[in-house]
Amino acid sequence: MFIAVGTPTRRGDGHADLKYVYAAAEEIAKYLQGYTVIVDKSTVPVGTARNVERIIRETNPQADFDVASNPEFLREGAALSDFMRPDRVIIGVESDRAEAVLRELYQPINLIEAPIMKTDLESAELIKYASNAFLATKISFINEISMLCEAIGADVHAVAKGMGLDGRIGRKFLHAGPGYGGSCFPKDTQALVRIAQEHGVSSRIVESVIEVNAAQKARMINKIRTALGGSEAGKTIAVLGLTFKPETDDMRDAPALAILPALLDKGATIKAHDPQGMEEAKELLPDSVSYHEDIMSTVDNADAVVLMTEWNTYRGMNLKDILKKMSGNAFIDLRNVYEAEQMQKAGFEYHCVGRI
Ligand code: UGA
Repeated sequence: MFIAVGTPTRRGDGHADLKYVYAAAEEIAKYLQGYTVIVDKSTVPVGTARNVERIIRETNPQADFDVASNPEFLREGAALSDFMRPDRVIIGVESDRAEAVLRELYQPINLIEAPIMKTDLESAELIKYASNAFLATKISFINEISMLCEAIGADVHAVAKGMGLDGRIGRKFLHAGPGYGGSCFPKDTQALVRIAQEHGVSSRIVESVIEVNAAQKARMINKIRTALGGSEAGKTIAVLGLTFKPETDDMRDAPALAILPALLDKGATIKAHDPQGMEEAKELLPDSVSYHEDIMSTVDNADAVVLMTEWNTYRGMNLKDILKKMSGNAFIDLRNVYEAEQMQKAGFEYHCVGRI
């Protein structure tokens, strides 16, 4: 039996809210018959598996069960392929019986040689947080380096590629951009800091990762302001992409949620487009944002275009047509999709992240 419910950030203290996990444990306990492995799939703070065990034991003292921790590493928009071809499967178990059940369950995946790693409950729970925090660290690291690139005239693409060719570093998750968002990295980095605090341990690196990410979003606001000649007041900005990444309608902690309200506050008019995220965005962004069904009507009469999310549909755009529609020529590419030379040739005043 898998517990795979949400663990959102609890309001006020950054801790993961476990009420859904514990409610599921209580509910399951009543119906247990025969030996059952209860698997924690939700991302839960260290110690949760033991609490789930206690709740089940208290609710149904006769039950024959083990609790296991089996964190998931799926990305939104790529969940099926991540599930079928995982880099690893982590199973935190404390009995041979539970281990045998989970190994059998994952046998088909083991056949494609994905390593199945057995560990204790606490380590399995921490592997999930440590993995997400490390990936977030790579992103904040390259975002900080992108700032240095801008200051010294280096190219963050070249720097990331040159670093990534070292197998110990790896090329993935070194794309500079407007900061990470989504339902996982912001929540899990905060939760890791809370877990460390509760255990009297410092987590200065992860705390800095969170700070650098917030600063990166703020830096994007300045970048847009500079591209507009120092003030966004009275300017029309066309925003392409609202979701925290492509191939999802998810707006949770999307950089757009931090950047757009700041631009509106300073008197900008915002026209927005997103292939999937507009419905959710309408709930979360100020009412003054206008939404458009296609790229051309979004950029119509705009002083600047901001490419916020790297949807494929924004990669091969007809640049000449876009420029004709606009009233200005600033193009702020927060995902480094285009090349400066190509954009300048097309007539844009081009700005990106970490590349001059
Ligand atoms: C992330 C992890 O990648 C999954 O392994 C994990 O299972 C999942 O969280 C989770 O904990 O459930 P996800 O949030 O779907 O997956 O999205 P990512 O593809 O990791 O992207 C997260 C954010 O980082 C996005 O805003 C993306 O734009 C940003 N990012 C990613 C960068 O800015 N640069 C990069 O190089 C990579």
